[in-house]
Amino acid sequence: MNILGINAYHGNASAAIVCDGRLIAAVEEERFNRVKYAAGFPAAAIRYCLKEAGLMLADIDHVTVPRNPYARLGTKLFYAVRMPSFARERVKVLAKFTGIREALAAAFDSNPGKLKAKFHRVEHHVAHLASSFYCSPFEEAALLSADGLGDFASSMWGAGFGPRMKVHGSIAFPHSLGLYYSAITQYLGFLKFGDEYKVMGLGAYGDPEFLEQFREIVKSNGAGFTLNLKYFTHHRTGPEMSWAEADKTPVLGKLFSDELPKYLGATRHPEEAIEQRHKNLASSLQVRLEEVYLGMLRQAAEQTQMKSVCLAGGVAFNCVANGKILDQTRFENVYVHPAAGDAGLAVGAAFYLWHQVFKQPRSFAMEHAYWGPGFSVAETRAAIDEAKLASGGFCIAQLDEEKLLRETAKIIGQGKILGWFQGRAEWGPRALGNRSIVADPRRPEMKEVLNRRIKHREIFRPFAPSILAEASGEWFEKSHPSPFMTMAYAVRPEKRDRIPAPTHVDGTGRLQTVTKTANPRYWKLIKEVERQTGVPVVLNTSFNDNEPIVCKPQEAIDCFLRTQMDALVLEDFLITKS
Ligand SMILES: [Fe+2]
Repeated sequence: MNILGINAYHGNASAAIVCDGRLIAAVEEERFNRVKYAAGFPAAAIRYCLKEAGLMLADIDHVTVPRNPYARLGTKLFYAVRMPSFARERVKVLAKFTGIREALAAAFDSNPGKLKAKFHRVEHHVAHLASSFYCSPFEEAALLSADGLGDFASSMWGAGFGPRMKVHGSIAFPHSLGLYYSAITQYLGFLKFGDEYKVMGLGAYGDPEFLEQFREIVKSNGAGFTLNLKYFTHHRTGPEMSWAEADKTPVLGKLFSDELPKYLGATRHPEEAIEQRHKNLASSLQVRLEEVYLGMLRQAAEQTQMKSVCLAGGVAFNCVANGKILDQTRFENVYVHPAAGDAGLAVGAAFYLWHQVFKQPRSFAMEHAYWGPGFSVAETRAAIDEAKLASGGFCIAQLDEEKLLRETAKIIGQGKILGWFQGRAEWGPRALGNRSIVADPRRPEMKEVLNRRIKHREIFRPFAPSILAEASGEWFEKSHPSPFMTMAYAVRPEKRDRIPAPTHVDGTGRLQTVTKTANPRYWKLIKEVERQTGVPVVLNTSFNDNEPIVCKPQEAIDCFLRTQMDALVLEDFLITKS
């Protein structure tokens, strides 16, 4: 049975294919259309998934969409009556979703009547929960999803047992941890979609001086939390995030009310310098999030009496909060879906159908994130030839693996910046050793060098370490796996001076634990770095420059040339300046 999951007309548009209970491919549309967080219809992602599976559209038995316009209809009607603009928006959204069959047929020049696939809907947070539980290695687990908003809910929790999952509760609009974080992110002068990550990094430089105020902004209650709505606007202006029709980039309206600066002090303008007060506000925001999030997890542990927890939703990308779960709850195992944001809905909706609807047994665990496009050596060679690198002052060597890794590790150890491209592209927003920029973690200046030459990011944002999984306990205070860079753990104090570049100001690192089975070549590279330098770690940042992560060899070459990296590994080819 072939199931196609489609996250369409929503941020992080994506597609995934599950054949007889095994994931074959999953990818975000942004990797093809090169628009970060692109919404719209993911035609290119669907085309790729079909190609990878060796299928035609006619071979798809079921299409599943992680959206149910009929979920929480009563609450929606209540708001529709109060807000005519919201009602108009709902009608537009409904029209789009009822047209998915037509959009799919149109993308393949087919007649909608000829599609034999049956279409299904899975509620947004149910798909988030499914994305995490059904990809986890756990036979049973507590489940939690938390984000901004989807199908009029912002959080959902439940439990999974084998092929079945059960929802225990949810929190509906307008109360949302994701929107709380986004609103304060805007208030602090970070206005772009996805900037929450920056503010989380900034929080490490501050103290939670404003925690009492933030406890008034997000109030705890028995079931979880409520927002103090006088500080917000989304309950008055409407909950739908909009998308620029032209290029499908997300547009976020102002989420906080004029009461917020009256309560916390003046907002920060994006151009304004970041002062200690802003850092303390970011810290307070984060600490309050952790209090509520970890409280919900403690409650889930109590309710389910389970040892493992599966997480998804945008809030599950908060690696700082995730890093505290093992210490502050009874959970002993944590699994976070690598595409915990809305891209992951495509995978979740597909597995939900296979297990929960069709009652099929479990046979799959997502132990790596390499579900996107890959390229043959011949295709890579063609891209190198087309870029005329050989005549452009570059030395190109095709090497066997042992020599390639030895030379590459040497380049890293010399403090040079290396583009590292191999295998299939990562699923989710983190580069995990297949589309990465890799550098020496021992050099304190590396963060500044990377920012100046390549990444052009705010200097307060940390870079992340990839570490041999078997060495993680020696270097970090936790050895629990973090294969998808979704946990921040404290670096052991005696090791902090040895890997200063990816150690954040608070002594933590958002680590990727690399196993030989999940990514053999990347593991061998880090092993060789360890042999040459004594440190089983590399600094790993995504292969891009303010754009979606590179997907094709051509894009890697363009980024390499544009940003003046020192060397580039493209599959078996080592490219250096001659
Ligand atoms: Fe979501």
